[in-house]
Amino acid sequence: MIKIKWFGHAAFSVNIDGKIFYVDPWIKNPLNPSKEIPEEAPDYIIVTHDHGDHLGETIDIMKKHNKTKLISIYEIASYVAEQIKAEERVIGANIGGPIDLGDGYKVILTVAHHSSGRGNATGTVFGREGKYVYHAGDTGLTYDMKIIGELYKPIVALIPIGGHFTMGPMEAAYATQMINPKYVIPMHYKTFPIIAGSPEEFKKYLDELKVKVELIILKPGEEVKLEV
Ligand code: NI
Ligand code: MN
Repeated sequence: MIKIKWFGHAAFSVNIDGKIFYVDPWIKNPLNPSKEIPEEAPDYIIVTHDHGDHLGETIDIMKKHNKTKLISIYEIASYVAEQIKAEERVIGANIGGPIDLGDGYKVILTVAHHSSGRGNATGTVFGREGKYVYHAGDTGLTYDMKIIGELYKPIVALIPIGGHFTMGPMEAAYATQMINPKYVIPMHYKTFPIIAGSPEEFKKYLDELKVKVELIILKPGEEVKLEV
């Protein structure tokens, strides 16, 4: 079972067979109907890169929930460890190296073409055999997505479509074709006027390219349960 909640922007709660991952938890983004730090305690937070709209409320969540660990590129992990004064609660890693979480769960940081404050920008694949989720982070289109699709066969892809700082709807449709997931959920759009790409345009390009995928358009705060 995979349960996915979108907080708006690039922020998600993903529950894979009971293990809860937050990705880029900018809870206080303008789209999220609730600005409260969630009562739900994630097992892991994955931060794709060091921009404020992705690091978001990571530190507040980790202060509220003692069991939550951070997984990110080494430089962000070191920074967060200093902030929360708990080195044992961060897992610093780097692009392409599988991180073994036990019970068959793995996290991989993937290539993303984007800038970042501390460390490099990444995307991430996380989950376990047959139940991998790919969160592309902030990125332009890259042929690496083909490898990610073939190697990890993600069931779900979370893809930025807003344009300007990331892929727009056309690039995102092409990316979806390369990744070949069962479900695709667009993100990183309409938070601000400048990231104007819309799910309707994204759908238009998916149709044009004849991409076989189930498009799921979530409202901020909405959750979807996938039987996989
Ligand atoms: Ni960014
Ligand atoms: Mn961003």
